[in-house]
Amino acid sequence: MATRRILVTGGAGYIGSHTVRLLLERGYDVAVVDNLSRGYRHNVPAGLLYAMDVADTGVLTELMRQLQTEAVVHFAGFIAVGESMVEPARYFTNNVSGSLSLLAAMQDADVKHIVFSSTAAVYGNPHAVPILETFPIQPVNPYGESKVMVETMLGWFDRIHHLTSVCLRYFNASGGAPDGALGEEHAPETHLIPLILRAVLTGKPVTVFGDDYATPDGTCIRDYIHVEDLAEAHILALEYLLAGGASDQFNVGTGFGHSVMEVIRAVEEVAGQKVPYTMGTRRAGDPASLVAGSDKLRAKLGWQPRSSELKTIVQHAWDFARKHA
Ligand code: UFG
Repeated sequence: MATRRILVTGGAGYIGSHTVRLLLERGYDVAVVDNLSRGYRHNVPAGLLYAMDVADTGVLTELMRQLQTEAVVHFAGFIAVGESMVEPARYFTNNVSGSLSLLAAMQDADVKHIVFSSTAAVYGNPHAVPILETFPIQPVNPYGESKVMVETMLGWFDRIHHLTSVCLRYFNASGGAPDGALGEEHAPETHLIPLILRAVLTGKPVTVFGDDYATPDGTCIRDYIHVEDLAEAHILALEYLLAGGASDQFNVGTGFGHSVMEVIRAVEEVAGQKVPYTMGTRRAGDPASLVAGSDKLRAKLGWQPRSSELKTIVQHAWDFARKHA
C-alpha cells in the first residue's frame, strides 16, 4: 500500500496519541500539529511534532503543501464540559475558531478529507438510550455546542468545496495502550477512571456524583470505549474517506453501559484493593444514562470493538497509572 500522508492535529493528547501510534503501525506517513497546551511532547514519536497552533492558518497551509498532506485527523480542542460552562469563550475560540482556521488552511492547500473528533455531548440529555445518530442535536453546554458548530461548518464545506468529513461522536474514551506507554493524563483530571485509580494510589477518596439516579444501583451509566477501539474507528473513517466515501457522522461506543459503582468494583478486582470513595451529590448537567447505538459504525465501516470490556479498560488504565504515579 502506498504511504498516505496524514496530518494529525492534537496528536500529543490522549486519543490523538493513540491514533498516531496506530496510523504509524499501519504504515501511514504522519505529521502531528499540537500547541502542547493540553497535550504532551512525550506522547509524540521523535521528529513528527510541529509545535504550533491550528489558528496559524498561513503556516498550516504552507506545512500541508510541503508535506503533500492527503487528509487530516482533527483532535485539537478543549474537552472539559465543566470548564466550558465557566469559560465558554475559550471553547468557542479554541474549538470553533481553531477548526475554522484549519478548514481554511485545508482549502488553501487543497486537502479534501477530514476525520473530526465530535462527542456524545452533541445529543445533550437524550430522550432514550441507546442513542442513535438520528436523535435530535441539542447540546446542553458550550463544549457540546462547539462540536455541533464544527459539524455544521463541515456540512457547508462539503456542499460548497467538496471537502468530505467523518464526524466521530465519542462516548467515554478510556483505557490506555496495553504496554503502558500511552494513557489518560489530563490536567486537571475530571474523568472517572483516572480519578478512581488515583484514589487507590493516594488513599484519598474519590467522590461518586450521586446515587439517586433512575438506574439499577442509582449511579450514572456511561458507555466506556477503549481508546484503542476509538483509534481504530479513526483509521476506518480515514480509509473510507480516502476511498471516496461520502461525509457522514457516527457514534463511537460499545452499546453497553456501566454504572459508576460497577467501574469502582472493576477497579477493586483489577487492583486487588478497596477503592476509597465517598458518596456525594449529583454533578450539574450529568444525564443518568448515556449509551451509544453503534450499529451504523459497525455496519458501514466494519468497526468492531476488541478491547472495550470494562475489565480490560481498567487493567490498561491501571497499568498506565501505576507506571506514571
Ligand atoms: N463521576 C463521578 N465522580 C468523579 C468523576 C465522574 O462520580 O469524580 C461520574 C460522572 O458523574 C459520570 C461518570 O462518572 O456519571 C463519567 O464521568 P466523566 O467525567 O468521566 O465523563 P462524562 O460522561 O461526564 O463526559 C464524557 C467525556 C466528555 C463528553 C461526555 C459526553 O469526557 O468529553 O462524555 O456526554 F462530553
